[in-house]
Amino acid sequence: MAIKSNKPILVVTAFNASGHTAGLMQISEYLIKRGFQIYFVAGPTFKASIEALGAVYIENPFVWDDIYASAPAGADATWDIKHIFGASVPTAHRVLKETLERVRREHPTRQVIIVHEALSGGLGPFVYGAPLPKGYDSLPKVINFHTTIYAAADENLPPFGLGLPYDPTPENLALWQGISQQMVPVMTDVLGHYNDIYASLGATRPLVGPFFDIILGFGNATVMATTPSLEYPISHPDPTLRLIGGLPLKPLPADYAHPAWWPTITANAALPSSSEKKKLVFVTQGTIHRDYTEIIMPTLTALSERSDLLVVATLGARGATLPDTFPVPSNAIVADYLPYDAILPHAEVFVSNAGYGGFMQGVMNGVPMVLAGTMADKAEVAARAEWAGVAVNLRAQRPEGVAIMAGVDKVLGDGGYKKRAVELRAENEGMEALVRFERIVEELVERE
Ligand SMILES: *[C@@H]1O[C@H](CO)[C@@H](O)[C@H](O)[C@H]1NC(C)=O
Ligand SMILES: *[C@@H]1O[C@H](CO)[C@@H](O)[C@H](O)[C@H]1NC(C)=O
Repeated sequence: MAIKSNKPILVVTAFNASGHTAGLMQISEYLIKRGFQIYFVAGPTFKASIEALGAVYIENPFVWDDIYASAPAGADATWDIKHIFGASVPTAHRVLKETLERVRREHPTRQVIIVHEALSGGLGPFVYGAPLPKGYDSLPKVINFHTTIYAAADENLPPFGLGLPYDPTPENLALWQGISQQMVPVMTDVLGHYNDIYASLGATRPLVGPFFDIILGFGNATVMATTPSLEYPISHPDPTLRLIGGLPLKPLPADYAHPAWWPTITANAALPSSSEKKKLVFVTQGTIHRDYTEIIMPTLTALSERSDLLVVATLGARGATLPDTFPVPSNAIVADYLPYDAILPHAEVFVSNAGYGGFMQGVMNGVPMVLAGTMADKAEVAARAEWAGVAVNLRAQRPEGVAIMAGVDKVLGDGGYKKRAVELRAENEGMEALVRFERIVEELVERE
């Protein structure tokens, strides 16, 4: 096909975690249907799914389970950045380089565009002067895909990490600046660590912070799958920043089999009157930080006496179970692993740890939320969701049962949350994220 051969080859690379990889898989699926050829570097968990999209899968063999398990209590986002994302750079860089060389051998005359998940690690050394892959005179153009909130430095926004509410009074602006100053030594240490790693890979220019400005500045376009309504007002957006809207809902896979208890959900949904129908509360802690005593067990316990609710929990890993000593309440169903998009269309409240991917799935399903979680980027996601009017923010890694119940009742009792969720869904759907993403690719195509 003549059209197909004029399109650039896309080399996609993502950090090995679902929140970092899933969005680019969905985008790749769309672009492949549009005639693009894709080489996708990712962790082995994603191999089968990536191949099923029709992409060439390339393994990134970096393992981070042991590093994560060794994190000290209270390790924050900066710890993760230094010890996990930093450690991932050498392997990610080598695999990206090898992949770019392979693509050049297999397609000597085609333009290559790198689609880089912002924390996938492999690209940065090239941007800072490390030797180019064989067969390239210059670095291919880059689309940088960011999978969490906007985190670049901005003196008019709360500093990243603490989840401080957005309220730019003069006092708060001064407070935020003071906190940013206090964070300088830690961030300088992180940058020094990155500089050592980059230099060891041949980088010739030092990184000059702030860290997230560097990460968000890697691309000819930096793309976030969200809308301005879900972000605080950015005072000096980088001209390459593009908010494309949330990624659309996907149909469940054709071979998806609902769990054995699914008729409970459909039977409840089919009840004619809202007084008979139980309100479905869906609760998750995501796929990584799975200490169920933090959110899942307190939620099940707090809501256990509520005959008006049906609580569905997912444990986020196939084969996972709750401790034998924890009896599952009679109004609850606990699944080891459940696609959010299967259950969210039936949910009236979504209780979660404020992972960004899950949050956006809540938005795209029009479901109001109760968010806990303060680790990594979670406090910032929850603060924005609260600010946007779509969630109650519990501001706790381990919320109390009474707070969870109050949050659920607030969302159920105040129709404003549902209304806002439906508005935000419409706004995000209307953006047509996938169409916009393809347009950005087309803008970077070099025409003779
Ligand atoms: C990829 O991520 C999974 C899940 O966190 C982890 O178990 C695995 O060790 C990682 N790396 C590889 C190469 O599988
Ligand atoms: C793409 O980004 C690189 C690195 O920032 C820059 O050198 C190059 O000029 C950019 N190209 C375009 C077309 O913007």
